[in-house]
Amino acid sequence: MWNNYSLLSYNTFGIDVRASRFMEYHSEEELLAFLSGGGLEAPYLHIGRGSNLLFTKDFEGTVLHSCIRGVEVLEEDDEHVQVRVGAGTLWDDFVACCVTRGWYGAENLSLIPGEVGASAVQNIGAYGVEVKDLIDAVETIDLDGDKRVYANAECRYAYRDSIFKRPDMKRVFVTRVRFSLSKTPCYRLDYGTIRAEVEKYLSVNLRTIREVIVGIRQAKLPDPKVLGNAGSFFKNPVVPRGQFEALRSQCPGMPFYEVDADWVKIPAGWLIEQCGWKGKAIGRAAVHLRQALVLVNLGGATGQEIVALADAIVASVYDKFRIKIVPEVNII
Ligand code: EPU
Repeated sequence: MWNNYSLLSYNTFGIDVRASRFMEYHSEEELLAFLSGGGLEAPYLHIGRGSNLLFTKDFEGTVLHSCIRGVEVLEEDDEHVQVRVGAGTLWDDFVACCVTRGWYGAENLSLIPGEVGASAVQNIGAYGVEVKDLIDAVETIDLDGDKRVYANAECRYAYRDSIFKRPDMKRVFVTRVRFSLSKTPCYRLDYGTIRAEVEKYLSVNLRTIREVIVGIRQAKLPDPKVLGNAGSFFKNPVVPRGQFEALRSQCPGMPFYEVDADWVKIPAGWLIEQCGWKGKAIGRAAVHLRQALVLVNLGGATGQEIVALADAIVASVYDKFRIKIVPEVNII
């Protein structure tokens, strides 16, 4: 346990804040011993790599971080493998491991920052795949030290959402995640230009798909080590079909994704760009030049400066389109 601990390397926005106490654990036993010793006083916050967090002030409480790492095979046959992965494993290290071992399913989620535990809380997604499609079960320990395994259906997965995001579930910590992966090829290439990019290679395999996805992400998304950011700042809004049809008649080029008969998802990046925000800055907070959904720290920005920019964007998108976009990033 450390006191007055800098969180600078624990948030990809690169906000310079401190936690009153910071505690890292390396096993379930270590976490249980800490909890039973009454070490955890409210307020507390469990973080991963802080790739989806925005700190607006010092955290006057205890920040917890899991260092439970590693990939363990639970079951395997000719077609499938079930693995158990420590919550503190870097997500992209796990994807790289899958690609090397010839396990199919996670490759479209290459290069997403963050850790495995948070991936299961946030239901990370990209290029037509969501992590919920791969998760069998989520292992947890709660504040009372009780262990519980949540089956996929119990996790209530939805777009960037799960039961673990509910306020009453903040007392439940993910320790490991069980994934089911295929050992026979099954690719998801239908999102955007992926198929066309992959077809430029002589053969389609896990490595080429990973290379294509990494290339697309690197071209659009800023590297947090260079320019602080937390990926998409807002969720893509889902609007009633009637509202979508009315908008579409005014803006025929508007991109969209079908959700179901009643609802349509509209890319927030497009809405923000239409409002003229791409590349604009307020102080040291800016809208990324190549992807309007990503807010960046130009250097030394405070969390409040990023929030002020986000508020201005929300207001202008509402003014122009009557759509209220909401942050995907957790603002603390
Ligand atoms: N677009 C614009 N202007 C922009 C950005 C996007 O017009 O500045 C348009 C694009 O031309 C395209 C559409 O919006 O027609 C969608 O863009 P993109 O494929 O870049 O995806 P996105 O909807 O902006 C979502 C996820 C990303 C994920 C990509 C790829 C959310 C909130 N974001 O972004 O996830 O990588 O799809 O699947 O759902 C994240 O969550 O942090 C994240 C990066």
